[in-house]
Amino acid sequence: MNDQFKKKADSQAFVQVVNVSKNVGSTNALILDDVNLQIFKGDFVVILGPSGAGKSTLLNLIGGLDRPTIGEVKIDQTVITTLNEDSLSSFRCLNVGFIFQTYNLISTLSAIENVQFPMKLAGCEDESLIEQRSTDLLTSVGLIEKASHLPYELSCGEQQRVAIARSLSNDPSLILADEPTGNLDWTTALEIIMLLKKYSTKQGKTMVIITHDERIAEFADVIVKLKSGRIAEVVRHA
Ligand SMILES: Nc1ncnc2c1ncn2[C@@H]1O[C@H](COP(=O)(O)OP(=O)(O)O)[C@@H](O)[C@H]1O
Ligand SMILES: [Mg+2]
Repeated sequence: MNDQFKKKADSQAFVQVVNVSKNVGSTNALILDDVNLQIFKGDFVVILGPSGAGKSTLLNLIGGLDRPTIGEVKIDQTVITTLNEDSLSSFRCLNVGFIFQTYNLISTLSAIENVQFPMKLAGCEDESLIEQRSTDLLTSVGLIEKASHLPYELSCGEQQRVAIARSLSNDPSLILADEPTGNLDWTTALEIIMLLKKYSTKQGKTMVIITHDERIAEFADVIVKLKSGRIAEVVRHA
C-alpha cells in the first residue's frame, strides 16, 4: 500500500472492498482476485487498467449491481453484499449514482424527464421539488435550454451531461462512472471530467471513474491500477 494512502487508513473509509473475488461463466474464470480497496469520503478515484482487467466488474460490485463470489463490500457502514435484492435496489437508488459510457438515457423521455426519473423511482411525489431539482441540475450542466429535447436531439457530450445530472438527482453520496468519456472526443471528454471533478470538490461527493486514458487519471486524488483482476498499485496524490 502506498504510504500516503496508509496515512488515511486510520480514519473510517467510506467504501470498503474486503477480500473480494469474483468467478464467472461456465469455466468459473477468476476475474477479480482477492481485491482490497478503501475509498474515503470526497475522494475522486480513477480506476485505470487495460481492457479485460476487471474494472467494470469491480465498479459493479462497489455499486451493488453485482455480487462478489467471495468477500464483502461496505458503503458508509452498510454491508451491501448481504442485502436482499429489494433492499439492495433501494439502497442503490438512494445512495449511488451511475454514469455509463453509452449514457443509457431513456430514449422516449426528454432531457428533464430523464433527470426526474430516479426521483420518481425513489418514490418522491413532491412535483414542485422534482421540478425545481431537475431544473437546477440541468442548469448546472448547462443544458436547461434543451430540457425538452429527446436524447437523439442531443450531441454525445450533451447526452452525457444529462446522464451526469440524472446520476445526481437523488443526491447520492457515491457516484460511479464506467468509461464516461469513452465515446467522446478529447475536448468534450475534458469538459465532462471537469464537470465531475467540480461536483466532487464542491459537494464533497465521492466519485469512482473507470478509464483506460492516462490523461484522465491526472485529475484523480487516488489512482487505482488494476491488472488481470488484481490491484497492481494505489497512488494517492497529495
Ligand atoms: N459474465 C462473464 N462471463 C465470462 N467472462 C466474463 C464475464 N464478465 C466479465 N468477463 C471477463 O472478465 C474480464 C474482466 O471484465 P471487465 O470487468 O468487463 O473488464 P474491463 O472493464 O476492465 O474491460 C474480461 O476478460 C471479461 O471478458
Ligand atoms: Mg469495462
